[in-house]
Amino acid sequence: MPHRVGIVGGDGIGPDVIAEGLKVIAAAGVELDTVDYDLGGDRYLKDGVVLTDEIVDEWRDLDAIYLGAVGTPDVPPGVIERGLLLKMRFDLDLYINQRPFVGDGHEFVVIRENTEGTYAGEGGFLRKGTPEEIATQGSVNTRHGVERCIRYAFELAMTRRKHVTMCHKTNVLTFSGDLWERTFNEVAEEYPEVETAYNHVDAACIYFVQDPQRYDVIVTDNLFGDILTDLGGAVSGGIGFASSANLHPGRVSMFEPVHGSAPDIAGTGVANPTAAVLSGALMLDHLGESEAADRIRAACADPESLTGSTTEIGDLIVARLGGDERS
Ligand code: NAD
Ligand code: IPM
Ligand code: MN
Repeated sequence: MPHRVGIVGGDGIGPDVIAEGLKVIAAAGVELDTVDYDLGGDRYLKDGVVLTDEIVDEWRDLDAIYLGAVGTPDVPPGVIERGLLLKMRFDLDLYINQRPFVGDGHEFVVIRENTEGTYAGEGGFLRKGTPEEIATQGSVNTRHGVERCIRYAFELAMTRRKHVTMCHKTNVLTFSGDLWERTFNEVAEEYPEVETAYNHVDAACIYFVQDPQRYDVIVTDNLFGDILTDLGGAVSGGIGFASSANLHPGRVSMFEPVHGSAPDIAGTGVANPTAAVLSGALMLDHLGESEAADRIRAACADPESLTGSTTEIGDLIVARLGGDERS
């Protein structure tokens, strides 16, 4: 039985990079039964649909979703990002955002909490539009949400170099930081073999650039994880190589590059599809096709040689999968 995968190309460079990802997956010998979803800025401008509950219910029966990127300058910020991407993460309870990074002497993975924090949407306006206007945007942190994320990070570390760093801002965010810190310390006691570390997120930005070799598994909240993973991409070959998995272990999960729709280069054919290809490899891991996933990762292992147009890079990866010596 081929795996049933929903495809959301989305906006900007999204459809172009996903086309290359699907090409590479086929070349790796994995058959997918795909269902296309026309969602994103263009669809919203056409008929007002961002994402319906009916579509989310259809997705629950799929094996995976493969997404390019969503968001466009033609639509006010947040309409598509919150209404499509965050609705998908929240409604499918994709509580882990796993983002691996490989670079010059370093190899680490960020486990970003994916359903809570400042992303939850808590807050609002008072006296909007007046000189006394107030806007609040709270951070929601539940013991359940924080604990399942931290536990996932420790379980993952047990399969790797057995080291977990928590990144937060406990020196200022004394409520959410306290909950994260206590939960981290309590879960750590259950994993005596795992060494732990803590970095304030601002200092982590220094270490990402100057000493990323120190990291194995990093666990962090939703917003810090968003920011740190763009930086992770920038210090690991570039954002065009950064992949991610939005997971609910054991259920339908979603796979997408870390980058966005890149309106500044959309339509020019220069977007690097490798991040989408590597996100496809993470999807194959989830689908039980790790042998093919490993071959795809091996074909993408030398970022400096993956240059050219979007389709040329896709062709190069396909040629390497076929063992073509000229590639
Ligand atoms: P972006 O990631 O789209 O672009 C940031 C910079 O990186 C740009 O200069 C862009 O050209 C470059 N870049 C991104 N992907 C690249 C690739 N594959 N190859 C080469 N260069 C690449 O971030 P942004 O400009 O802040 O956001 C643009 C839109 O995308 C916004 O609407 C934003 O909300 C949305 N967004 C969506 C996702 C997602 O769907 N997962 C992620 C991030 C941003
Ligand atoms: C990401 C993106 C999203 C996020 C946006 C588009 C909602 O930046 O996946 O990193 O902030 O999570
Ligand atoms: Mn981001």
